[in-house]
Amino acid sequence: MIELKDITKGFGDKEILKGVSATMESGKVNLIIGASGSGKTVMMKCIVGLMKVDSGSILYDNQDFTAMDHRAKKEIRQQIGMLFQGSALFDSMTVEQNVMFPLEMFSKDSLKERKKRVDECLERVQLKDAAKKFPAEISGGMKKRVGIARAIVLNPKYLFCDEPNSGLDPQTSLLIDQLIKELTQEYNITTVINTHDMNTVMESGDHIVYMYQGQKQWEGSNKEIVFSKDQQLNDFIFASEFLRDAKEMRQLDMFKDSKWKDQLEEQLKRDGKK
Ligand SMILES: Nc1ncnc2c1ncn2[C@@H]1O[C@H](COP(=O)(O)OP(=O)(O)OP(=O)(O)O)[C@@H](O)[C@H]1O
Ligand SMILES: [Mg+2]
Repeated sequence: MIELKDITKGFGDKEILKGVSATMESGKVNLIIGASGSGKTVMMKCIVGLMKVDSGSILYDNQDFTAMDHRAKKEIRQQIGMLFQGSALFDSMTVEQNVMFPLEMFSKDSLKERKKRVDECLERVQLKDAAKKFPAEISGGMKKRVGIARAIVLNPKYLFCDEPNSGLDPQTSLLIDQLIKELTQEYNITTVINTHDMNTVMESGDHIVYMYQGQKQWEGSNKEIVFSKDQQLNDFIFASEFLRDAKEMRQLDMFKDSKWKDQLEEQLKRDGKK
């Protein structure tokens, strides 16, 4: 579990994060959504320690990361896997060598054990056949999967993915989402994803944090989001006519489930649609 307590971050006189508090739960895919420039990447960089917060604290399983010395921070960092925007693979290394890289940096295992671990991870993301290929020889979706294999090779407790679906078609995006979700549940990882992708929000959004102008504007699940009355959130998520229709259909679908019935009835009454 990762807890953010009132974190702030600015550059010069420009405030980007204006006191954000949130909890990222373990075994769950936690999504950070919000318009371009709302501070998602800055927030992720602060959480992993690539940027320093101006105030507030970040707790990794009750340990205050912001108050740690260099050595303790390094220990936490070794438990973090990160999938960067655009995959950030090393072009001069093969797929296999890219996945091996964190092991060479941090692992004390023998070469044989390291190779076994790389094979396991490549198998897990279904890329064994591409092990000897270079990044330039594989597709965008495959690159993301290499990035995921590299991010999980050290068995991380915490996994961060910045826009894992950017540049992918909807079907490949869903496969990537599914893979991240499975890994999260399989290894009980605390996963944090920055995304713009509405399919991800609706399919994987167990826990969603919506950022607006440097603040947490809304927090909830993909079930709750279809009932949200937050204007900014609705304008952002259900931006098109098509998505507004989809929202109504999802509401009707959930209307059949008694758990959501009362909530929906109440909203429809309020909206004067009943
Ligand atoms: N190193 C930096 N120095 C100065 N300003 C920065 C720096 N990094 C980010 N910013 C500013 O912080 C704001 C938030 O940027 P950020 O990259 O977090 O947005 P984002 O929500 O991730 O957007 P996107 O969806 O486009 O990736 C922007 O106004 C950006 O210009
Ligand atoms: Mg970003």
